[in-house]
Amino acid sequence: MEIIIQRNPAAVSAVAARLFRHQLAERAASVFGLATGSTPLGLYRELIAMQADFSQATTFNLDEYAGLGPDHPQSYAHFMRVNLFDHLTRPPARTHIPDGTGADPRSHCAEYEAAIHAAGGIDLQLLGLGTNGHIGFNEPSSSLASRTRLKTLTPKTIEDNARFFGSAADVPRHVITMGIGTILEARHCLVLAFGEAKAQAVAAMAEGPITASCPASVLQMHPHCTLLVDEAAAEALQRVDYYRWVYDNKPAWQLK
Ligand code: F6R
Repeated sequence: MEIIIQRNPAAVSAVAARLFRHQLAERAASVFGLATGSTPLGLYRELIAMQADFSQATTFNLDEYAGLGPDHPQSYAHFMRVNLFDHLTRPPARTHIPDGTGADPRSHCAEYEAAIHAAGGIDLQLLGLGTNGHIGFNEPSSSLASRTRLKTLTPKTIEDNARFFGSAADVPRHVITMGIGTILEARHCLVLAFGEAKAQAVAAMAEGPITASCPASVLQMHPHCTLLVDEAAAEALQRVDYYRWVYDNKPAWQLK
């Protein structure tokens, strides 16, 4: 895992935007896995500011709340429109977000997996990190081989996300999320984390044991994972000096 530490969230977002731009330059018809929540907002602002050309790209979002239709202001479908898609002059040719309102979630999840497969798999998967180490909404104890499915949120995640809904009571209990096995198939995983609230999860993910108790730790097994954090989120890492050294000495051929 490559660990890149930047001064602040703005610097992290700028580096992440460069990785997106590089991916688009390599292949205009790339397939992106996208995330929601607070973490990607700076990156999405950067992509809008640079008017990145997604016109040949395909996107798949990680997750959606069960029971919220695409027009619900807290749905992730709505989030993606107002924070990215509606502001791009060349939006993605094809966007996919799990449907949290279908009558048959099991078939829908299988279809979502099939659509990712049919698109050729995900080239670059963006991930935020839960304070409890979740990726997507794969909460601690999720199978590390899981596929897209309906999941129950932990009280901790409900509490963390109450800020978007006004109260914890309004946060749906269930979500549809890509599985950990699904995420691991992406060719490049890019995890962003900011702030001291994420510091323990970042350390557990990068330096702790690989365990379902911290689902993100499975990314230690991924052949191409970039963890991009600000100073505050890096606070509990043991080998900060080494990670900085590696980044400062990154050879030109590896600057991708
Ligand atoms: C969102 C997602 C979640 C969030 C995580 C961090 O699509 O899959 O895993 O990335 O809960 O949320 P924020 O960014 O709000 O701290």
